[in-house]
Amino acid sequence: MPASDWWRSAAIYQVYVRSFADGDGDGTGDLAGVRARLPYLAALGVDALWFTPWYLSPLADGGYDVADYRTIDPAFGTLAEAEKVIAEARDLGMRTIVDIVPNHVSDRHPWFRAALAAGPGSPERQLFHFRPGRGEHGELPPGDWPSQFNGADTWTRTPDGEWYLHLFTPQQPDLNWDHPEVRREHEEVLRFWFERGVAGVRIDSAALLVKDPALPDLAGRPPGPWPGPAQGAGARAGAGAAHPYIDRDELHSIYRSWRAVADEYGAVFVGEVWLPDSERFARYLRPDELHTAFNFGFLSCPWDAERLRACVEETLAEHAPVGAPATWVLCNHDVTRTVTRYGRAETGFDFAAKAFGIPTDLALGTRRARAAALLTLALPGSVYVYQGEELGLPEAEIPLGRIQDPMHFRSGGTDPGRDGCRVPLPWTAEPWNDPWLPQPADWATYAADRQEGRPDSMLTLYRNALRLRRAAGGFGGGSLEWLHAPPGVLAFTRPDGLLCVVNLSGTPVPLPRHTHVLLGSAPEEGAGLLGPDTAVWLRT
Ligand code: GLC
Repeated sequence: MPASDWWRSAAIYQVYVRSFADGDGDGTGDLAGVRARLPYLAALGVDALWFTPWYLSPLADGGYDVADYRTIDPAFGTLAEAEKVIAEARDLGMRTIVDIVPNHVSDRHPWFRAALAAGPGSPERQLFHFRPGRGEHGELPPGDWPSQFNGADTWTRTPDGEWYLHLFTPQQPDLNWDHPEVRREHEEVLRFWFERGVAGVRIDSAALLVKDPALPDLAGRPPGPWPGPAQGAGARAGAGAAHPYIDRDELHSIYRSWRAVADEYGAVFVGEVWLPDSERFARYLRPDELHTAFNFGFLSCPWDAERLRACVEETLAEHAPVGAPATWVLCNHDVTRTVTRYGRAETGFDFAAKAFGIPTDLALGTRRARAAALLTLALPGSVYVYQGEELGLPEAEIPLGRIQDPMHFRSGGTDPGRDGCRVPLPWTAEPWNDPWLPQPADWATYAADRQEGRPDSMLTLYRNALRLRRAAGGFGGGSLEWLHAPPGVLAFTRPDGLLCVVNLSGTPVPLPRHTHVLLGSAPEEGAGLLGPDTAVWLRT
């Protein structure tokens, strides 16, 4: 594989800057903290770092409300420091991916301030979706679209009586992608970061940008791409070209012109594309569009051998015709942490099923998460590791008064929100000074320095697996061949002779023939037996 194809097989580590490492001791993670921990990331063995938004932002949605793409939020540092992060990571062999949020900006963005000030009918308002209200005095919202955050309102009225559209929070007004200035500005933002040595861009909410200009009512069509019981078969039938804001055909011309910009710099894209229809999903990955997109089917899949195998097969089948590599993701900053999810009765992920106080067996979840790590890292394509996944962190229960995520508030308080997976990382047993989200008292046991050098720690497992994956070279690319296996067991080989076996059944199973064991997620159960919820990499 040529070096320029690094993204086809890369292991990419997601840094949620605010919670990664705190360089100045103020309780908020920052770029000084990132720089200090770059050697840790290099030793972990990842090829690239994806930074969630680090730009100037009022943090109404954790930075996904960007006020200025060319300024780093002062809570995190400066542009000069970001440039140092990029350069120092590159010196350690890691590329940098930044996060662009094209669907919306912050309500503090100069464009939106100008639009508010300029008033109804002004050219400034054309950059957004402003509309008069319905009802006799315009007192009713102009449309019926529910928010991506728990179905709350998507329209907010301004003091002059007009309303504006926001698929997320009122602090995140949606941009009008039919406006040439919106397109021009985003291509300049891409260039701005590519000029600074960034190797890739994650595209936030990538399938939502374009709206039907008439903003027609949904009238019963499914409301959002995120998985939930409200969707299922309906979403399959309803999303697509005809939907007023999900997955519209016009998006592809935007990504084609972005691709031309990226190609000038040899940079790559990863799209946040939540779509249940694999044919529609694969359209984003055609050779002149996005290089990759996150695999949310895999992230949401329950801990079940048949379901996982079906998901892997479907993923590979949907990517093959467009020649794009698959991606494998177990968790990110929006979803329940893996060890918690796998320790519950319902092991799949579903935004709509989130609730407080779900009984969780963390020992079981951890055992499964260890096996899932070996499964994931053996699959063909690129893989994502979300900060803290390598420490085996569980989802934290955030005390009610400390929750910050708008998803919680917009649900009327029923959804715990996403803060539980965003808690500052425990580097040492000593908690952070005044952390922006509280670290649970028992997190000392997960501290990175305590896991260091311990053969049975999650950190050691990830390091060993990433090292072997990189050394073998063949993991990311190439094919996968399923072997016949007992019910509840997944077994497949990779071209370079790796054999991965995962036992999701309740009983130990004999290991297939092999020359030696490369790595196991748990010790063997007696001679030649693979225990329940255990995975092993064998050499044949
Ligand atoms: C994406 C981000 C999420 C954010 C939302 C709105 O889904 O991953 O964190 O809240 O977009 O920008």
